[in-house]
Amino acid sequence: MALWGGRFSQGPTESVAALSRSVHFDWRLAPYDIRVNIAHVHGLVSSAVISAKDGSAIEQALRELAQEVANGKFTYNESDEDVHSAIERGLSSKLGALGGAIRAGRSRNDLVVTDFKLYLIDHLLEVASALSALVEAINTQASRNLSSVAPGFTHLQHAQPILFGHELAKHSHGLLRDVDRISDWLERNSFSPLGSGALAGSALQPHPEASAEELGFIGILGNSIDATSDRDFVAEALFIFAMIGIHLSRIGEEFTLWSTSEFGWVTIADAYSTGSSIMPQKKNPDIAELARGKSGRLVGNLTSMLVTLKGLPFAYNRDLQEDKEPVFDSVETLLVLLPALIGMVETATFHPEVMSAGVLDGHSLATEVADFLAKGGMPFAQAHEAAGECVKLCEKLGIELHELSDEQFASINVALVPALREKLSAQGAIESRQSSLATSSQSVLEQIELLNSENSLAKSWISSEASRFVEMMGK
Ligand code: ARG
Repeated sequence: MALWGGRFSQGPTESVAALSRSVHFDWRLAPYDIRVNIAHVHGLVSSAVISAKDGSAIEQALRELAQEVANGKFTYNESDEDVHSAIERGLSSKLGALGGAIRAGRSRNDLVVTDFKLYLIDHLLEVASALSALVEAINTQASRNLSSVAPGFTHLQHAQPILFGHELAKHSHGLLRDVDRISDWLERNSFSPLGSGALAGSALQPHPEASAEELGFIGILGNSIDATSDRDFVAEALFIFAMIGIHLSRIGEEFTLWSTSEFGWVTIADAYSTGSSIMPQKKNPDIAELARGKSGRLVGNLTSMLVTLKGLPFAYNRDLQEDKEPVFDSVETLLVLLPALIGMVETATFHPEVMSAGVLDGHSLATEVADFLAKGGMPFAQAHEAAGECVKLCEKLGIELHELSDEQFASINVALVPALREKLSAQGAIESRQSSLATSSQSVLEQIELLNSENSLAKSWISSEASRFVEMMGK
């Protein structure tokens, strides 16, 4: 159904209809569109644009339509340009001409933004909930690895010994920041554009605050021209999705690397691996690789939105219809990826004996030698030089630092006394780092406890926001 036509002597040609049509993707907005229309009808009744009797007939028909959309009895057809046209067609098929009363006092320009905001609130909360489940899976694996010793890397070269629980738990921090970004998004963007009409505000809806409140928003936006063309909230959401994608890609990369035969630190469960069509022996970490690979489209979706917005005139321009597909794609990508990744993390088997075997390779205790000298009062630059000389000697002899004799240490610097030996173990290096962010077993234990409590706060926040949203949708 077309929502315009009076001033035209010809309908759009087929190619124009095909280009301008969005219903095949924006149909996802149908439940939100109906809910916004119900709030809008309430506004029209209170401003006496339609009678209470007509208002309740329209509301009743919209509620029926919502049911039919949910159970698939009503859907879009070839004649519909977009979701708004399809819903109005559904309404008119129930109410005849009265169905068209809904269009008073609003435009698709404010309607589409309101629908889209509701879609995003709903789906950001769903993504947040999946993130929190991933944090839980990571924290559980991290607490199982509180005594697993592993080489820590910088530049992908052995750097210093760490606890493997520390290594795993680091991922939870980024993911909880993503949840925090979602909470920020909700706070900043919980303002309704409804009442803006096409761009100038509406004479028929003088109090849009009431509809905003009904839809669970904090209030209305401050400027109708901004309100109909602002897509900051879309770009921000796409940034959050891209950032999540980047975090997941780094988890994916680690699992891919750790599952190689060269590393052998983890076995990914069969149910979370795939095979090769030609090499019968292959077991590939495809879930981890997809977690890495999907970040490309998530970043691309953000980029496409930003480019669409650059230099765009105010207020509504049809370019803005390009805001939805990147969001749907990012949301759907994450909602498919996250459950698989959660399962992969939950079922992974780590091999502490393999990790610890190489922990001292690459002279990873050199910092302990320098720290020992610095603690004894030597300026660190000088201590660093002396420890470097120890490394040089080890390289020449083909041994590791702890294999140097007392004499060899003393020959490099007299301050390298036998007491140093106590410090020259992976365990010693790890346990000497006791601050709250460091790698000692007590520190990591406390870090994971803190992560768990932050995650359970996040979880209860997500579930209370989600039930508030469900309740608003059902009202
Ligand atoms: N399908 C359109 C979109 O998503 C709805 C708004 C159309 N408004 C208009 N004036 N043509 O942006």
